Amino acid sequence: MNKSLGSISRVSFRDEHPDLGDGRAEILAGLQLSQKSVNPKWFYDQRGSELFDKITRLPEYYPTRTESMILKQNRESIARICGDESVFIEPGSGSSEKVRILLDALRPAVYVPVDISADFLRLSAETLGEEYPWLDVFAVCADFNAGWNFLNELPSARRVVFYPGSTIGNLDPTLAQTFLRTVATVAGSEGGILIGVDTHKSSDRLHAAYNDSAGVTAEFNLNVLRRLNALLNANFDESAFSHRAFYNEDLRRIEMHLVSDVDQQVSCGGMTIDFVGGETIHTECSYKYSPADFTALAKSAGLDVIESWQDEEALFSVHYLRSAG
Ligand code: AVJ
Repeated sequence: MNKSLGSISRVSFRDEHPDLGDGRAEILAGLQLSQKSVNPKWFYDQRGSELFDKITRLPEYYPTRTESMILKQNRESIARICGDESVFIEPGSGSSEKVRILLDALRPAVYVPVDISADFLRLSAETLGEEYPWLDVFAVCADFNAGWNFLNELPSARRVVFYPGSTIGNLDPTLAQTFLRTVATVAGSEGGILIGVDTHKSSDRLHAAYNDSAGVTAEFNLNVLRRLNALLNANFDESAFSHRAFYNEDLRRIEMHLVSDVDQQVSCGGMTIDFVGGETIHTECSYKYSPADFTALAKSAGLDVIESWQDEEALFSVHYLRSAG
């Protein structure tokens, strides 16, 4: 390997033209359930993404900065276990911020950011290529939830899938298991999965992280109503709903809801949705796993936990998984 100083990073871009559908039928169906619900993916329009970014910098929201610290403090051992010259794939890569912590130690053969937002992905990939002249970047615009066809285009080296941020926490455990099974197939028997997982902890600490004093999480939650108004030509009144987030100890998950402050009717996609005062729309689950819980989940997906890293307070965890047997 001789990718010395002065070599020019190769950044390529492949657009699979992900078709997300228009989502209207799915949203309307969710709003007609007895427990009304909306998929958290609808949080992330431009404003929602900016609000989430703001959340990651809140004093109460420990996950992002704790995970970054864990990656920083352990990058050598993480790199050793991932191995160099890997095809390093990051589904939902966004601005590719966290991978920067690892790249110099990791030295992958190629970094593969995968995201559904084409323009943003292209820009992020190009910026990364400029910052890391030795790095090959193969950016893929795709919906990885709809399949991993783009893998055929990749070099046939060992694959490591990077899934930071406790994004897996958004999935119910059965769906998380299915997701891990799929990713295990992608990684194959030689590769692995480097995944960030928020841990089960005191409800107080969790409560604070999802009920910040600046009210940014509330804004983030309520923003989904604007999204529904835009997508479904609806007339949700943000001021008639309130943010609620609590730790469901039994299910080990944060639940976020929007509470209807009053009895009201909302017109939405040509329908009328009735709310009684106090009724909620369930907008997000964020599952928390103790290391033992996560090991069990991984096991159920045919994966072994090879190594785990945590901060001193055990607020967050990063695991390296490999197919069992
Ligand atoms: C991006 C799903 C990991 O669950 O903590 C932050 C989203 N919601 N504050 C999380 C979120 C409210 C976040 N994830």
